[in-house]
Amino acid sequence: MVVFAADPDGRKRAIIWAHRSMSEKRVPEGIEGLLENNRAWARQVTEEDPEFFRRLSRQQNPEYLWIGCADSRVPANEIVHLLPGELFVHRNVANLVVHTDMNCMAVLQFAIEVLRVKHVIVCGHYGCGGVKAAMEHEQFGLIDNWLRHIKDIYLHNLEVLESVADPGERIDRLCELNVISQVFNVCSSTICQNAWARNQPLAVHGWIYGLEDGLVKDLSVVVDRPEQIPAIYRMPMTRQADNT
Ligand code: CO
Repeated sequence: MVVFAADPDGRKRAIIWAHRSMSEKRVPEGIEGLLENNRAWARQVTEEDPEFFRRLSRQQNPEYLWIGCADSRVPANEIVHLLPGELFVHRNVANLVVHTDMNCMAVLQFAIEVLRVKHVIVCGHYGCGGVKAAMEHEQFGLIDNWLRHIKDIYLHNLEVLESVADPGERIDRLCELNVISQVFNVCSSTICQNAWARNQPLAVHGWIYGLEDGLVKDLSVVVDRPEQIPAIYRMPMTRQADNT
């Protein structure tokens, strides 16, 4: 399916989205099918916009960094209908931002300092398997150490969470609290604080995606200045913003 969208210059450009109906048969099956899909996609995009790939190959200029769950049902670009080149993406199990995770920190630094994105979006999703696993007492392996960060969030919000009677609702509430916590982790990083200290416009947002309706809910957590984070987490260059 070909969808057109106006770019900032008002020109029309082609977007190819894989809006396959569930009943539509993908041919052929298997790994070869993926390569065939790829060739068909590249051909379609080029037909609609012959310069598309050449233009993108020269540079990327995304305004947004997306930090989301690795869950296959939460594909970043599709959800917000952005083209290749418009969204810088980092995904891991349960969309965690851990300050000792060099992978996530490297993405954050590159996105903010080199690409100079204006927005960082932490997008979780309801019914997250990682969050659910963190609420259980079963061993799943190495990932238990990763999910431990979510148990910490549970403990910090024990009263709120245990006042929710319905188990499904409790998972979803923890999914929301996890997003808020990861927004905070982005903001308390030196990378984010350095950007604010040099007056680089940067806002960090908390969103959550509904698997059942395909809609993103804005959790109304927007942090765009150091005064919004507790003083103890502020670095020297943002410490002066402390009025407390
Ligand atoms: Co998930």
